[in-house]
Amino acid sequence: MENINFKQNKLFIEKISVEKLCKDYGTPLYVYSKKNLIEAFNRINDNLKKLDRLLCFSIKTCSNINIIKILKEQGAGCDIVSGGELYRALKAKVAPEKIVYAGVGKTAEEIEYALKSKILMFNCESIPEIELINKIAGKLKTTARIAIRVNPDVDAHTHSKITTGKKENKFGISIDIVADLYKNIKKKMKNIEIYGVHCHIGSQITEISPFEKALDKVLNLIDELEKCGISIKTLNLGGGLGIQYMPDKKPIDIKKYGQMVSSKLQNRKLKLILEPGRYIAGNSGVLLTKVIYVKETTVKKFAITDAAMNDLIRPTLYEAYHHIIPLKKSNKKEKYDIVGPVCESGDYFAKDRELPKVQSGDYLAILSAGAYGFSMSSNYNSRPRAAEILVDGNKSILIRKRETYQDLVKPEQI
Ligand code: LLP
Repeated sequence: MENINFKQNKLFIEKISVEKLCKDYGTPLYVYSKKNLIEAFNRINDNLKKLDRLLCFSIKTCSNINIIKILKEQGAGCDIVSGGELYRALKAKVAPEKIVYAGVGKTAEEIEYALKSKILMFNCESIPEIELINKIAGKLKTTARIAIRVNPDVDAHTHSKITTGKKENKFGISIDIVADLYKNIKKKMKNIEIYGVHCHIGSQITEISPFEKALDKVLNLIDELEKCGISIKTLNLGGGLGIQYMPDKKPIDIKKYGQMVSSKLQNRKLKLILEPGRYIAGNSGVLLTKVIYVKETTVKKFAITDAAMNDLIRPTLYEAYHHIIPLKKSNKKEKYDIVGPVCESGDYFAKDRELPKVQSGDYLAILSAGAYGFSMSSNYNSRPRAAEILVDGNKSILIRKRETYQDLVKPEQI
């Protein structure tokens, strides 16, 4: 987290004191570093310099239009999975020809919206979906560019809930039948233009070998297709690049990843598409929260915070580790369960975590919360969602207002 660190005992995001942000905007508060977003994006981009490429930011990770805009200015396109995400991407003025659309359940309305918006291509996940796209494209008197998302049956060695490239997962179409499917599409579906091959094997992958295995399988498929006169223009290797959450665990080696991918694609006429999300946003954002009470029982100390599982669900959903730092230093250490006010035992950020002693009123920074943090937040327990702030050097900009009680009931009909 290059631009989020301590200077003279105070936590800073770029040039702004985190404590000042808590006081100025209140908590719970999501804060992003513009510099971190740009640097992470360019770390991927720079390591693929030798290749013709398009990096499509996976906007489910962190969907605020302002964040999408920052990445668009660096040249990014978008990976989307819903009509809502397409709407956001277009609002951020991302060029439609840089938008790729994945997801197992695209509806007819969503397909029509995407075709009318002239997106680059659909990453298709089933035969009925391709048939529907063909039909709708025909109705609109257009052709739809597609890639088939292949399921290569590769183990990504990550949490089971974020593994997507194994046979038993709902994603993609088994690589064993994809060549025949492409041939059939070419023969029978007049409104489909075969454009690419897509593959996304999972998220938070920190080893190179699963990517390499998947890439080899996809390249074999592309060679097989070429022999049958089906020429593939783009190879989309998905997202999945893992970041550092724990102080002693390493992120993916992006240089090695770049070398591996470049060496395999350098002498081919394929354009590489990647869909990184977490790698760009994860360590660019923190969730700030205030301790409301410290509650002691006979067996535990609970630090009860004003943020809860509705703000950041990753710990309870994936047993995910997020590093937590109190803004106030103390030499005394204590063990806490750090929990929110929601009425669920799963409402926690950490269990039995040793921290410098905290008291009611102290602020905590929950790190690595930029990816799948705010975007997975909800209003559970009728809790208004947190505000989002962007830090740019010594400026802080409100990019999403804290929700109000009125916002909570706005769509309801009385
Ligand atoms: N492309 C596709 C088709 C995806 O489904 C995803 C993420 C990505 C790209 C971006 O993957 P990334 O680069 O961020 O790993 N909520 C979970 C992660 C779910 C990932 C969903 N798909 C979490 O908090 O860990």
